[in-house]
Amino acid sequence: MRVGLPREIKADEYRVGMMPVGAESLIRSGHQVVVESQAGLASGFSDDDYRQVGATIVGSPREVFDQAEMIVKVKEPQPGEISLFRRGQIIFTYFHFAASRALMQACIDSGIVAIAYETIRDRKGGLPLLTPMSEVAGKMSIQEGAKYLEKPMMGRGILLGGVPGVAPAHVVILGGGVVGTQAAKVAAGLGANVIIMDINLERLRYLDDVMPANVHTIFSDAHTVREHLLLADLVIGAVLIPGATAPRLVSRADLSAMKNGSVIVDVAIDQGGCVETSRPTTHQQPTFVVEGVVHYCVTNMPGAVGRTSTIALCNATLPYALRIANKGYERAATEDAGFAEGINLVAGRVRNRAVAESLNLPYEPLGGGIKP
Ligand SMILES: NC(=O)c1ccc[n+]([C@@H]2O[C@H](COP(=O)([O-])OP(=O)(O)OC[C@H]3O[C@@H](n4cnc5c(N)ncnc54)[C@H](O)[C@@H]3O)[C@@H](O)[C@H]2O)c1
Repeated sequence: MRVGLPREIKADEYRVGMMPVGAESLIRSGHQVVVESQAGLASGFSDDDYRQVGATIVGSPREVFDQAEMIVKVKEPQPGEISLFRRGQIIFTYFHFAASRALMQACIDSGIVAIAYETIRDRKGGLPLLTPMSEVAGKMSIQEGAKYLEKPMMGRGILLGGVPGVAPAHVVILGGGVVGTQAAKVAAGLGANVIIMDINLERLRYLDDVMPANVHTIFSDAHTVREHLLLADLVIGAVLIPGATAPRLVSRADLSAMKNGSVIVDVAIDQGGCVETSRPTTHQQPTFVVEGVVHYCVTNMPGAVGRTSTIALCNATLPYALRIANKGYERAATEDAGFAEGINLVAGRVRNRAVAESLNLPYEPLGGGIKP
């Protein structure tokens, strides 16, 4: 199979869909890889790195899309990319269709096979191609929070870990899943006082067992959340109800009771955010202040650490890209029901039930008839 790797064109996106080692694995398995010039540069991979493993470098995205039977990308397709799609072409990337009817319609019209990273499941029911980016965002959330707690960044002027004789910061993490766990590890390592709040008691039990002594677990309800917001210097929004918009745990009224110059990093902003006053921001302008509280609400946090994120993502995506190239997506789907959930769209027909339901479109299971 001929596999194409275009350069990402979304603003502030520094990741690339495949590392040179991935291109090498595909080529060793008898496939060809076509790479757009400078596709890997922002992640630290030069054209020569790809050339040395046998990939072909081309000068324009059009050449990649014209030649490749499968495109491997990172972000959801942008209008300039959709216009280059060919009927029957496999596009393997994040789509987040539920968030954009316009993208779904454009992909239906183009006749592609859309295989979405975010809906592939592993044997335990987890989302193996989403987890690495949550790990990155969780660790980054403390790094960013620490920065915006500095006075010149509008924060309280607080050092997260304190110093001998001065108390450390109080960090409240809402949601103890992948993001929350990574955030807690970093905050605890820096010496902060850390509270993780979750509604899943099993999860809290687990975290209580594995976390260091400066991390405490608290069951999340409206009263306890409010109680801990009053003490917080840094709040991390890390809740998720799969497939739904994020639950609102912090209201505008809560903000006025919080410390002036405290910081909220609302990582859950990509699902609408868990703070009433959150709105999406970009790496160019990551923060804004409401009621004296600094809000950081960047929707693609991992994009800023492109090299780490590219490696973390590609470690997880490559085995699937290899399987699609070696077996074809239909056979790969019959052998792995979790992978089959990644197939969102084939020739204008929606093949993932949740995606179809969220956009109120007919659902046609793989190998079955149309369901309203
Ligand atoms: N902004 C970004 O760049 C970025 C990057 C990666 C992930 N995310 C987002 O971060 C969020 C968290 O992702 P994750 O992978 O950690 O999810 P996860 O499913 O691993 O964890 C979510 C946790 O939230 C808990 N929860 C649900 N409702 C709650 C409530 N009312 N109070 C307290 N806890 C509650 C769940 O029990 C679960 O443990 C998601 O919205 C995800 O899309 C954003």
